Amino acid sequence: MKAARRLIIDTDPGQDDAVALLAALASPEELDILAITSVAGNVPLELTTKNCLALVELARRPEVPVYRGSIRPMVKKLVTAEYVHGPTGLDGSGLDDPELQAADGHAVDRMIDILMGAGDGEITVCTLGPLTNVGMAIAREPRVVPKIGELVMMGGGFFEGGNTTPAAEFNMFVDPHAAHIVFSSGVPIVMMPLDVTHKAFTDADRLRQFADLGTRAGASVAGMLDFYDRYDMEKFGAQGAPLHDPTVIAYLLAQELFSGKHVHVAIETSSPLTEGMTVVDWWGVTGMEPNALVMREIDADGFFDLLVERIGRL
Ligand code: BDR
Ligand code: CA
Repeated sequence: MKAARRLIIDTDPGQDDAVALLAALASPEELDILAITSVAGNVPLELTTKNCLALVELARRPEVPVYRGSIRPMVKKLVTAEYVHGPTGLDGSGLDDPELQAADGHAVDRMIDILMGAGDGEITVCTLGPLTNVGMAIAREPRVVPKIGELVMMGGGFFEGGNTTPAAEFNMFVDPHAAHIVFSSGVPIVMMPLDVTHKAFTDADRLRQFADLGTRAGASVAGMLDFYDRYDMEKFGAQGAPLHDPTVIAYLLAQELFSGKHVHVAIETSSPLTEGMTVVDWWGVTGMEPNALVMREIDADGFFDLLVERIGRL
């Protein structure tokens, strides 16, 4: 059997982050989660940290440490998304306040320690929120870069445009300066943009499959996604909502569900009109070296089957 991937998950739960975390926590044979690091994003940091702890508890994995991370983006003021996720970030989940406490130390320090203690390419970093913590870690200790074998992120969009401004996806819009540091660092990136996640919508049948698991985790996922859907249903006139962040964990478990292209991606940091835009050189017109595997296609049925099966293990 292949050794489990050694992993840091950086996240801002958020209902879609929650499903991603639960799927990862349900997969210890493949994923050795060294740390979950919280970041401000969908809701402020105290809530994203609390939500991480509640999810670790729900998955009955109290040994997985949660570290509190950056309270605000590197340069900009924090922008949050309660209009999507509700005031708690996990509205609809039915989860109580967790008893677990965050581990001592700052997420950026812990990230640097884990990476510096590892061999080259040994650690996978997953980002499900703004890139503030990873950008800070690279800025403070550039020697972490070769330690990261793969950085798998949900963020950006190109053919689909943005979801927060016409040009920018939420995670990139919140901290474009951190995103710029990450994309220009040399870290091998796998990017799950809106072009992929807008092909993976929930619907009533898919929600029912979670509810039908008959478990606490299944009921919580069905409840939170039911709440999360309402904003995008109105926006897209669809039966559900794109399930963004779990694509990252699905890639780690079943890469064959996705296809894309190695291309160069740059981040706009200065234009007020397009800040946070991921400028993807899909047709190779710049001659710049590819810095990311940008995904464009997903097997949506396979993706939801995988999630139901993994959440069913909890
Ligand atoms: C991203 O923004 C957040 O609202 C979601 O959790 C996801 O990470 C989608 O644009
Ligand atoms: Ca997120």
